[in-house]
Amino acid sequence: MKLTYLSHSCFILQTSTHRLIIDPFLSGNPLAQTKPEEVDCDYILVSHGHEDHLGDAIAIAKRTGATIVSNYETAVFCGNQGVQTHAMQIGGACQFPFGRIKLTIAHHSSSNATPHGFSYLGNPAGILITADDKTIYHAGDTGLFLDMKLIGELDKIDVALLPIGDNFTMGPDDAARAVEFLNARLSIPMHYNTFDVIKVDPQRFVNRVKSGTRVMQIGETINL
Ligand code: NI
Ligand code: MN
Repeated sequence: MKLTYLSHSCFILQTSTHRLIIDPFLSGNPLAQTKPEEVDCDYILVSHGHEDHLGDAIAIAKRTGATIVSNYETAVFCGNQGVQTHAMQIGGACQFPFGRIKLTIAHHSSSNATPHGFSYLGNPAGILITADDKTIYHAGDTGLFLDMKLIGELDKIDVALLPIGDNFTMGPDDAARAVEFLNARLSIPMHYNTFDVIKVDPQRFVNRVKSGTRVMQIGETINL
């Protein structure tokens, strides 16, 4: 299984059978080096409705025929724009052709700004992906929460993708604590440096984590 970092909270996961993209925020992302038109995938996993996560999901789904997997409201919002979707809710798991997805809690919000105010898009989530005998936890946008211990007890987390940018999510200290709660074998920071308000040196996170960490460069691929 291969994991590629496209910046912010966006990763591509290549399993032995399918290609998944998570939180495809590429257009308008000052760090992204990949254009949405270059993305080829079978599934698009969206942690919540914010523009820096939903991003180019609908355009990519329209072009590729990929299925968007997200919380119920975000999935219906996407489905109303003519794309394939699979709606889930927190705590529920589902078996897909590539493996299993389960949504976890995330302490954050989920909305889409319209000229008439916010349209709320369900509950933000973290995403557990189990494929090829590995479990990856993409925390979405969230503050630290003690139930991460339970997430780490129910599934052995091979790789945790954790926001460290502070302000909207955990900062480096809380994210390092999250690694302990999750008992993650390898942790990778995300959701930092995209905008001034989330500028953080990822070494602050790495220096606090006692287990394996890896700061992925944008465009870098690692074998899991
Ligand atoms: Ni958000
Ligand atoms: Mn965000």
